Amino acid sequence: MSPKAKNSSFQSAKDSKQDEFYTQLSDIEKELKHYKKHFKGKVVYCNCDDPRVSNFFHYFSHNFEKLGLKKLITTCYKNQELDLFSQNKSEKAIHIEYLGDKNANNMPDLEEIGIKELQGDGDFRSPESIELLKQADIVVTNPPFSLFREYVAQLMEYDKSFLIVGNQNAISYKETFNLIQENKLWQGYKCGDMAFKVPNHYEARETRYWEDEQGQKWRSLGNACWYTNLDISKRHEELILYKKYTPEEYPIYANFEAIEVGQVKDIPCDYFEAMGVPVTFLDKFNPEQFEILGSSRTLGKPMSEVAEKGSYLQGGPRFYLPMGDGTYRRLYDRIVIRRLKK
Ligand SMILES: C[S@@+](CC[C@H](N)C(=O)[O-])C[C@H]1O[C@@H](n2cnc3c(N)ncnc32)[C@H](O)[C@@H]1O
Repeated sequence: MSPKAKNSSFQSAKDSKQDEFYTQLSDIEKELKHYKKHFKGKVVYCNCDDPRVSNFFHYFSHNFEKLGLKKLITTCYKNQELDLFSQNKSEKAIHIEYLGDKNANNMPDLEEIGIKELQGDGDFRSPESIELLKQADIVVTNPPFSLFREYVAQLMEYDKSFLIVGNQNAISYKETFNLIQENKLWQGYKCGDMAFKVPNHYEARETRYWEDEQGQKWRSLGNACWYTNLDISKRHEELILYKKYTPEEYPIYANFEAIEVGQVKDIPCDYFEAMGVPVTFLDKFNPEQFEILGSSRTLGKPMSEVAEKGSYLQGGPRFYLPMGDGTYRRLYDRIVIRRLKK
């Protein structure tokens, strides 16, 4: 193996380890309480979940009757290393089907849980996992962050309902943004700080890392989000707008014909043309009130076509505001939206 290939395979192994972030039961409960109506009579599939450690499996197996589920399917990805958090020392990946409480103790007991070995490694893209996916009505999990795009593409391909955890940065992926724009995927309730248990072999970090009294390692993300295509009441709530538009307060970008709205709360109530808003807008997005036209990443004209070299800071595609002295201010990512007339 060339040093370069060696390096890149080391890097990808290192990156893949960063996928072992285990979701807390309390985070699952807080989010899932908004979706109860969707689960009655449904087959739920958790396809990135070792049932021995997954709180998704725990939540659905313990709430099976309350939610009125038809079936719970879980597949566990075969761990490549022995020291992984899930302690799965078996070479075989497993698959579980739970059909509910049989002995009336309202608990999922071992004899009620059908554990089967998979032929393959339990990869969510494997033919076996895809066969299980086809049976499912709703897929709920926290998938590997590094495979988010592929994971969502597969859900779309098989036309599944889903509720999954991801990173807010995923919004900037072209594929995810297109789905948001087409109203095929949206943010769930919680988007922000979430803490996850991580395996023992994860290295200590200066920030967003700690060990609890039991020696369990934790990492947190400041921008963990739930993504779904299940209808939620939040999506029908109108954003209350009160500010009036003035050209002075809402300047037009130098490289796109839209006004700049620096904070979601300042969206003017009397403006019905294109406006750029921060990505945090998606948390308040109601498709009956607004439409999404695109993002600064794709809509912003290259500044080289608009302004003199040296008058602006170069970087990736962004919107720029003229400062009035011949220079331009580069802004963070913006989503371009338009109010819908009632
Ligand atoms: C972010 S962790 C979340 C684990 C669990 N779903 C939870 O929320 O606690 C993602 C999990 O996906 C597993 N995984 C990684 N690659 C996978 C693949 N190709 N197919 C299925 N699962 C995978 C990882 O081993 C890891 O346990």
